[in-house]
Amino acid sequence: MTTAQRASTNDEASIRFVDLHPPADNFRQDVIDGLSKPQKTLSPKYFYDLRGSRLFDRICETPEYYVTRTELGLLDGIASDLSDRLGERVTVVEYGSGASVKVRKLLDSLQQPEGYVAIDISKDHLKASAQAIASDYPKLDVAAICADFVSPIDLPPELKLDIENPVGFFPGSTIGNLGPVGGVEFLKSAADFLSPDGQLVIGIDLKKDPEVLNAAYNDAGGVTSEFNLNILDRMRRELDAELDRSLFRHVAFYSEPKGRVEMHLEAVRDTSIRIGSEEFAFAQGETIHTENSYKFEMTQFGEMAANAGFGCDRVWTDEKEYFAIYLLETNEVASAA
Ligand code: AVJ
Repeated sequence: MTTAQRASTNDEASIRFVDLHPPADNFRQDVIDGLSKPQKTLSPKYFYDLRGSRLFDRICETPEYYVTRTELGLLDGIASDLSDRLGERVTVVEYGSGASVKVRKLLDSLQQPEGYVAIDISKDHLKASAQAIASDYPKLDVAAICADFVSPIDLPPELKLDIENPVGFFPGSTIGNLGPVGGVEFLKSAADFLSPDGQLVIGIDLKKDPEVLNAAYNDAGGVTSEFNLNILDRMRRELDAELDRSLFRHVAFYSEPKGRVEMHLEAVRDTSIRIGSEEFAFAQGETIHTENSYKFEMTQFGEMAANAGFGCDRVWTDEKEYFAIYLLETNEVASAA
C-alpha cells in the first residue's frame, strides 16, 4: 500500500490534486526484481511516462487497433440509454485518465453531472487532462488523484465524503492487463470505493479472430513497437541503465490457450542490461515479458464481476461483438432495484 501524501500543486487552482504516487525507487526496484526472474518481466504500468502515454494515444489512432474506435462508437450508440440508467448529479470516477475523449462523451451525455475524479499513474498526463476537463466543464467539481489504482486506494476522507452518486468509469479494457485474479481484486476495490450505491461502467475487449488481435498489437506503422521499446528508454533516462536498445525487438502475439495477447522485448543477440552494480544477461531470443492483455468471454467476465460483488445491470456490444460495455452495480443497488 502506498503512503498518502497530500501535495500542494494547485498551479491553476482549477482542480484538486492528490499525489498518492508510489515512491520513486519503486521503478528501480521493480526493474531489478523483474529482470532477476527466470522469465524476465516488467509491469505494463511502467509504459506510461509522458512519452509512453503519448505513444499510447497514437496507438489508438492506428488502423489496426480496433479497440478504441470500437468502444467510442459503442459509447456514442448507447449514450442516451446509458445516461438514463446512470441518472442525475453523478460524479464520474475515472480509472486511468487517458486522452479523456471517452469520458467527455460520457460527461456530455449525463444529466447535470456533479463531479469528475481522475485517477492515473502518470502525473503529468493526469494533471493536463484533469485541468482540461475542469476548464471545459466549469460547473464540474474536478479532482485528480495520482495513484496506482490496481492497489487499493487509500483516499483522504475529504475527497471521498462529497461523492454522492459515484459512477466508476474504466474504459479501454485496461482490466485486461490484470489477469483473472488481479481483475477480480480491482473490481473488489472499485466496489468498495463506489459502495453503497455506486455503478461502474467498464469496457471489455472480447475474444475474437486471432488474426485481428495479432494485427492490433503489431501495427504496420510501428507505433506499438515504439511504445514497447520506450520502456527501455525510460530505464536509461530514469535509472541510468546501460543497454543497447537496437539489440531488442518488439514481439506481440495472441495465445489462444491463455486467452491473452502477450508483449515481449526480445534480445536479437546475446547482450546485457546494467543498472548500477547489477548486470542482467540475455541470451539471444530471451525476452522481457512486458504486458498481458486478456480477452474475455462475456460469461467469464460476468462471473468475475459477480465474484467481486457487482450485479450486472446491462451489457452492450458492437455488431461484430469485438467489444462490450458493462453497466455494473454494487450489490446494495442491485438488491434494492
Ligand atoms: C491500455 C491495456 C487496454 O492492452 O490493448 C495497446 C495497452 N498495449 N497496445 C491493451 C496496449 C499495446 C492496451 N490497454
